[in-house]
Amino acid sequence: MELMTAIEARRSIRRFKNDPLPRETILSILDAARLAPSGKNMQPWRFIVVQNKARKEMADILHTALENRRAGGVASTGSAENTFRIMAEAAATVFVFSRRDVFHPEAREINDYVTSLVDAQSIGGAIEHMLLRATELHIGSLWIADTFFAYPELCAWLEEDSLLLAAVSLGYADEAPEARPRRTLEKMVKWQE
Ligand SMILES: Cc1cc2nc3c(=O)[nH]c(=O)nc-3n(C[C@H](O)[C@H](O)[C@H](O)COP(=O)(O)O)c2cc1C
Repeated sequence: MELMTAIEARRSIRRFKNDPLPRETILSILDAARLAPSGKNMQPWRFIVVQNKARKEMADILHTALENRRAGGVASTGSAENTFRIMAEAAATVFVFSRRDVFHPEAREINDYVTSLVDAQSIGGAIEHMLLRATELHIGSLWIADTFFAYPELCAWLEEDSLLLAAVSLGYADEAPEARPRRTLEKMVKWQE
């Protein structure tokens, strides 16, 4: 598939069929992430793939996390409830970690701060590589940041203490959404020349 065709064809998929994905397909998608550029070539990402029977455990964790947030007084969990339903439905969810967590309030030492921001950019690029490769393989995908609503529960369950930045759910799409609107280039580009 031509790159621009994949860019134009990609959609966030929120309905998945209940068919598992071959491990080679997931590996091929992760390999696209592996090849992404990163600041100083640090390749700060780490992936945990949840699939098969671990999906049910994950769904329970997400459900509990939402209850915990509500019990803790979080009035709005935003789109998390719907996102967690999608994650439970997808054949596989890739949790994307950054190698360290220096976003806590004391981490104001410039080098740590810069490293965090650079790592986050690198990981964003790696995730986009995943989505485009998935599109090329006719696999539906969803980039997810609602994982922050289940942050402590997911990190404990996945036994990771690095920074959980995002997740990507993958599976065979059970919907074919229209392209979502985008602002025009005129509205987002200023030329200084
Ligand atoms: C950083 C990031 C986080 C996102 N988090 C979520 C999420 O938690 N749940 C969800 O349903 N969609 C999520 N999305 C998908 C966006 O809603 C989607 O990309 C946007 O509405 C445009 O639609 P499209 O991807 O089909 O072009 C996320 C996208 C990005 C880039």
